[in-house]
Amino acid sequence: MSFIVAIDGPAASGKGTLARRLAAHYGLNHLDTGLTYRAVAQALLQVGLPLDNEALAVAAAEHVDLARLDRAALSEHGVGEAASRLAVMPAVRRVLVDKQRQFARRAPGAVLDGRDIGTVVCPDAAVKLYVTATPEVRARRRHDEIIASGGAATYDAVLADIRRRDERDMGRADSPLRPAADAHLIDTSTMDIETAFRTALAIVDKARAG
Ligand code: CDP
Repeated sequence: MSFIVAIDGPAASGKGTLARRLAAHYGLNHLDTGLTYRAVAQALLQVGLPLDNEALAVAAAEHVDLARLDRAALSEHGVGEAASRLAVMPAVRRVLVDKQRQFARRAPGAVLDGRDIGTVVCPDAAVKLYVTATPEVRARRRHDEIIASGGAATYDAVLADIRRRDERDMGRADSPLRPAADAHLIDTSTMDIETAFRTALAIVDKARAG
């Protein structure tokens, strides 16, 4: 059995950084499942196909190759927005979740981060973390990231965007974002990344020992 760490949480909660660092620390594979939804969105956007046609989206999902997910190429804001619209489609989710489960099964195990890892993709994960922060703190982080990378955005627009994304991700019928019953909650609102990492390490170490 491979060792699986499931990490869920809303946009800009810090789950991605945590997932990468935990995977490196324990020598586990890492999958940012958000990139799989982004890859579907980008495939449709690139050739000007509509985002509301489930059959087209499923076909695009079937073509997603987990070994070829390019974070930089998928990082655009519009791609994330389109991804969250496609992510409400159950048939798209089924195709991607199947690929994510195959990834998780590979030895020696994996850290997966997303919205439904502890609840749907890997309900038997050895450790489940639910990483959150207030919308205001998350908007500040996302805003600072955009500015640091040379982009333009106002804090208010980023906050509105985060709230809209939260609503869509938490409100959808299929696999809404919510903590699994057995998830450990990590609220990073007043934590820097080092503190969040140490908090997560303590939880995972305990699970590995047990
Ligand atoms: O980092 P950010 O929140 O911008 O987005 P992401 O993690 O790349 O995910 C983009 C969108 O994909 C999310 O808003 C979700 O709607 C969807 N998603 C999902 O439904 N399930 C997952 N396991 C991961 C992402």
